[in-house]
Amino acid sequence: MGLDDRGALTTLRAAVDPSAGPDGVIRDFYTRWFATDASARDLFPPDMNQQRAVFSRALHWVLGEIVDQRAQEPVAFLAQLGRDHRKYGVTAAHYDTMQRALLGALRGHFADRWDGAVASTAVDVVELVIGVMRGAADAESGSPYEDGTVVDHIRATRDVSIIRLQLDRPLFYHPGQYVTVQVPQWPRRWRFLSPSIPSDGDGAIEFHVRSVAGGMVSTAIVGETRVGDRWRLSSPHGGLHVDRNAGDVLMVAGSSGLAPLRSIIMDLQRFAENPRVHLFFGGRYPCDLYDLNTLWQVAAYNPWLSVTPVSEFTTNPPWAADYPLVDPPRGLHVRQTGLLPEVVTRYGSWSDRQILVSGGPEMIAATKAALVAKGARPDQIQHDPPAP
Ligand SMILES: Cc1cc2nc3c(=O)[nH]c(=O)nc-3n(C[C@H](O)[C@H](O)[C@H](O)COP(=O)(O)OP(=O)(O)OC[C@H]3O[C@@H](n4cnc5c(N)ncnc54)[C@H](O)[C@@H]3O)c2cc1C
Ligand code: HEM
Repeated sequence: MGLDDRGALTTLRAAVDPSAGPDGVIRDFYTRWFATDASARDLFPPDMNQQRAVFSRALHWVLGEIVDQRAQEPVAFLAQLGRDHRKYGVTAAHYDTMQRALLGALRGHFADRWDGAVASTAVDVVELVIGVMRGAADAESGSPYEDGTVVDHIRATRDVSIIRLQLDRPLFYHPGQYVTVQVPQWPRRWRFLSPSIPSDGDGAIEFHVRSVAGGMVSTAIVGETRVGDRWRLSSPHGGLHVDRNAGDVLMVAGSSGLAPLRSIIMDLQRFAENPRVHLFFGGRYPCDLYDLNTLWQVAAYNPWLSVTPVSEFTTNPPWAADYPLVDPPRGLHVRQTGLLPEVVTRYGSWSDRQILVSGGPEMIAATKAALVAKGARPDQIQHDPPAP
């Protein structure tokens, strides 16, 4: 019975399978929850499609782990989720109403198949999931987020902005990590952004944001951010890192994917000696390589760093004149033409390097595939999120 009943667990897991489509237990659960607790509805954005998908994926994965009698990873995941959920304003009362709504939706779904075994297993699973999240959240006493004021907004290219903030209190994160961010133009639409400088004890922080076509939050950040805007930041995550004792490094950055790699490079400058770091920084046009001047200055004083600019086209479009000139002094960087995966692998497989890739999901997948095809091992290649 309960969490040992693999048959009942498997039955429950099938009921929340995200591949079964959007209608079903999860939709019914949110409908019941919001009907009985309007304050829970207020925490979510208007469009719930994405939320239903991530919630059912999470629940489906947790149930799969429990079926296989593995507890450590799901408990750690749920505890982290509970701590992270504090930033949404989740209270103990929300957990109570959620528990009732989720059990109600499951009972409704199974109807006459809701027998003793399924019922008691469902009660135990829901209690476990909610109990771990609530317990981990209760154990935290610090603020779940840090607020900050925009102090600078530089339109670096047509679609990339550099935004600098002064936080009310410093936010601690490891170089290379990303944080979740809420901007005033889109309340309740948290997005991941990677700081481009290491954590600063005085609360300075900088982001590089690229507006993606049709993107809700990124286009608002690039188009509408003003000095004085108040941003909310939370939950540093991610594992991009350089092990200074594990040999030389290849970094591949597409557009604003430069940010976390730049943060790691800035951090490495603290040390007199480092592994060699070769950074490929790519964009569509030469003018998209918005941070080349800073990278050039860092490379000029740090012989362990070399930078190869890469652009898909050799000449700039007319609108480039509206944005800061990015060309560094001639000679130090020889710009290569082509797509990043193709240019990077022209130099070999890099199979003896620590490899860090950062950019949009398609760029990460294509670069990884090209490196692996040339002989690099997948486990040598770091990217966030780990599975694009
Ligand atoms: C670990 C991590 C770190 C990130 N760090 C940064 C960063 O430092 N700077 C930055 O600008 N962005 C970063 N992003 C991307 C960012 O979180 C948003 O996904 C992106 O800004 C799009 O949000 P949106 O609301 O504008 O688009 P949405 O409205 O959420 O999506 C609109 C469309 O854009 C597509 N899309 C979403 N993200 C991307 C993307 N990255 N590239 C291409 N198409 C996309 C979606 O599939 C969808 O079709 C990071 C993402 C992850 C996972
Ligand atoms: C009181 C209970 C809960 C409340 C009020 C709540 C609320 C929220 C909110 C407001 C979001 C953000 C939505 C967005 O930005 O689009 C979110 C995201 C999420 N929730 Fe919950 N949630 C609760 C419990 C749970 C539980 C039990 C799970 C378990 C599997 C879960 C899994 C997730 C996941 C995976 C995400 C996406 C990742 C993230 O943004 O943190 N939530 N939740």
